[in-house]
Amino acid sequence: MEHELVIVLDFGGQYNQLIARRVRECNVYCEIMSYRVGMEAVLAKHPKGIIFTGGPNSAYVDGAPSIDPAIFSSGIPILGICYGSQLMMHLLGGKVCHAPEREYGKTQVHVDTQTAMFREVHPSTVCWMSHNDYIAQAAPGFTITAHTDNCPVAAVENVEKSLYAVQFHPEVLHTAEGTQMLHNFVYGVCRCAGDWKMDSFVDTTIAALRTQIGDGKVLCALSGGVDSSVLAALLAKAVGKQLTCVFVDHGLLRKNEMEEVCGVFGPENGSFDINFICVNARQRYYDKLAGVSEPERKRKIIGEEFIRVFEEEAKKIGKVDFLAQGTIYPDVVESGLGGESTVIKSHHNVGGLPDYVDFKEIVEPLRNLFKDEVRQVGRELGLPEYIVSRQPFPGPGLAIRIIGDVTEEKVKIVQDADAIWREEIARAGLAPSQYYAALTNLRSVGVMGDERTYDYAIALRAVTTIDFMTAEATQIPWEVLGNATSRIVNEVKHVNRVLYDCTGKPPATIEFE
Ligand code: XMP
Repeated sequence: MEHELVIVLDFGGQYNQLIARRVRECNVYCEIMSYRVGMEAVLAKHPKGIIFTGGPNSAYVDGAPSIDPAIFSSGIPILGICYGSQLMMHLLGGKVCHAPEREYGKTQVHVDTQTAMFREVHPSTVCWMSHNDYIAQAAPGFTITAHTDNCPVAAVENVEKSLYAVQFHPEVLHTAEGTQMLHNFVYGVCRCAGDWKMDSFVDTTIAALRTQIGDGKVLCALSGGVDSSVLAALLAKAVGKQLTCVFVDHGLLRKNEMEEVCGVFGPENGSFDINFICVNARQRYYDKLAGVSEPERKRKIIGEEFIRVFEEEAKKIGKVDFLAQGTIYPDVVESGLGGESTVIKSHHNVGGLPDYVDFKEIVEPLRNLFKDEVRQVGRELGLPEYIVSRQPFPGPGLAIRIIGDVTEEKVKIVQDADAIWREEIARAGLAPSQYYAALTNLRSVGVMGDERTYDYAIALRAVTTIDFMTAEATQIPWEVLGNATSRIVNEVKHVNRVLYDCTGKPPATIEFE
């Protein structure tokens, strides 16, 4: 299915995925490409518009990331952001140099509201600035459309050539009217119609999957997380009984998670007519993990055991034609296959394919979607909200939320405490980015009735974050902490203390392992 396309041309900025997400929120499909692919490759995609991103370099330095200036005569609207704006000015004869005063943070920007870029934007508006260089002089043919107290050229344009540039970052939420500005660019300048919608994505993807798969057999590992659940639902709608989903209960899932996943995808439910295999592998995992307390070792054991179990199930099914994978767009970009960003992590869904399953081809229907879009597809497919809005949960499960060795009894304790914590957070109407209970291996003296106890301490964690690379401990009202604490010590056996983890990341991590 052909969509209108806007290309985010990546010059190494940190917000590039955010730009693409914001454009997609305007219902316009957007892809990230590295500037290294060159002008021809960009133009060959016939984009309706191009956005040059920020980046850490100085445009006037030899060897700085650049592009053939002929791109500016292509007639395709271009918006330069931060480094992208400086590069545009530099290449077209303006003057870019080290700014006498660095601008960083929220800055009052005075804009000319007569221009298409700033339609329906206030004449004085808060924007996010982060730059050491600045445009000292606009290129010939350009009109200055915004300035700040320190920055004579905060925005410029050449309407005739459809070239626009802003020194600030419209994509970050600190820019109060940034969404409006991006909307103005894609609709007012690029003349997009807005054909990227999740309901039509579902219809066209189901049709495409049917064509690709034909009457072939598909195998899908279902973890119960958002991506694999949406993947399974999409395939179920597309090819029904040709799909087999394997769900491995490793005994390290959250409370009721197995029942929830089976409730949605299992044979009793009826909303999906697929082959569903739920493998109870709990004891196998407990046996393998017995006495192991080192977190990396636990992760390794769990990963290897998953392969063993999946392999056994795959052998029973025999040869399949397709293996389904829940790869999503950030996985693709972060693996260095999309934009310019250095390889942050080599994601298991992108790089290595499992060689223990006999399959011909791979299907990855979520490969172009951001997480918010995956959730939206899940809703369109009728998946329940408790699956669609699930918070991140590590593959190794509760094993890495139990300090020290893992036993069935400890898993039960952490499951029950975690369920209470989640209920109390929900009841208070709070929405931290991620929150859970962990079992510290600490036992201490307490008193219950007239009796002395010697029981465990539970640690509660809640963090607020955008990118999960850094995070702050969420400020939870004392009353909510109090309610959760009294319920946990009363309702969960073998717990006599509850602690709240106030540490951010860094120096801690989000998980508590
Ligand atoms: P950390 O603890 O490194 O976690 O600050 C960052 C985010 O990644 C999640 N996480 C994982 N997700 N498999 C996953 O799919 C894993 O092994 C894993 N380990 C950590 C964590 O929950 C947090 O959201």
